[in-house]
Amino acid sequence: MRSLIAIRHLEREDISGILEQAKQMKAAILAGKPVDSGPPRTIGLLFFENSTRTRVSFEQAASYLGFRTVNFSGSGSSMRKGETLKDTILTLKHERLEGVVMRHWCSGSASLAARHFEGPVVNAGDGQHEHPTQALGDALTILERKETIDGLRVAIVGDVAHSRVARSNAWLLHRMGAEVRFVGPRSLIPGHTAKLPGETYYDLRNGISDADVVMCLRLQRERMESGHSVSAGEYRRLYQVNRSTLRAAAPDVMVMHPGPINRGIELDDLTADGHASAISDQVTNGIFVRMAALRWVFSEPRSAPAKKKEANV
Ligand code: NCD
Repeated sequence: MRSLIAIRHLEREDISGILEQAKQMKAAILAGKPVDSGPPRTIGLLFFENSTRTRVSFEQAASYLGFRTVNFSGSGSSMRKGETLKDTILTLKHERLEGVVMRHWCSGSASLAARHFEGPVVNAGDGQHEHPTQALGDALTILERKETIDGLRVAIVGDVAHSRVARSNAWLLHRMGAEVRFVGPRSLIPGHTAKLPGETYYDLRNGISDADVVMCLRLQRERMESGHSVSAGEYRRLYQVNRSTLRAAAPDVMVMHPGPINRGIELDDLTADGHASAISDQVTNGIFVRMAALRWVFSEPRSAPAKKKEANV
């Protein structure tokens, strides 16, 4: 058993293994065949932040695996009475849950939960830190269209500063051999991108020039301090991915977005719904990588992984 906290902690073989398993699970489910799900488990789905795609796909993944889920949100719990995250996690452990999937607004909360739960924890997004299963679903989607990630030029456009999706994707894409670019206004690119694997571009057309994949991000206003953000109008004028700006990218570029989309800001409707868009595939593939991730955390590691120090970048 192990936890899935951050793509940054995974080796290339772990990533390929989870993706291969997800591919097989997808093929089985689409063909109406049974999947190799291992023993049935009871897992907690703890969402302390809003979620549509991630939450529903974990529910779907668990149900395809024959797992039982116990749903838990901060607002209906004793955390409203002041209970700490640590005590909440310990309570769930003593309630005999076998695993936990958690989304929380605080970066580092997934590691804390894993430390106290002492069983598998899957990070479904911790603050601005990581969202590993999103990056795995995105990778499966890229592989379906491009066959390999190695050597691709991938531009991650927008609010990189506040995005756990950008961080997990950057680590995964880099580890699998892609060239990663971060594109956006200075105020939305973290000052310490030197710690992230990728080059920074402040001009959209330069940043997406010849890109094979353009990954848009949502402007995450809930994470911005007032006065530190660009206006929606200004962002749209300089950074919107649309038919005209996409001419700079490779002719067979694929366009991605983790959702929820601010339509007309990060992306125009024609692009979001057009043939280059892989957004609906990202949503569907989220189910299969989450099935594979749940299987992976309940399986034994090949060999004890070397301990790596975690840094919140
Ligand atoms: C993202 C998230 O919550 O991190 N969405 C998702 O999980 N599909 C991105 C976002 O909220 O912008």
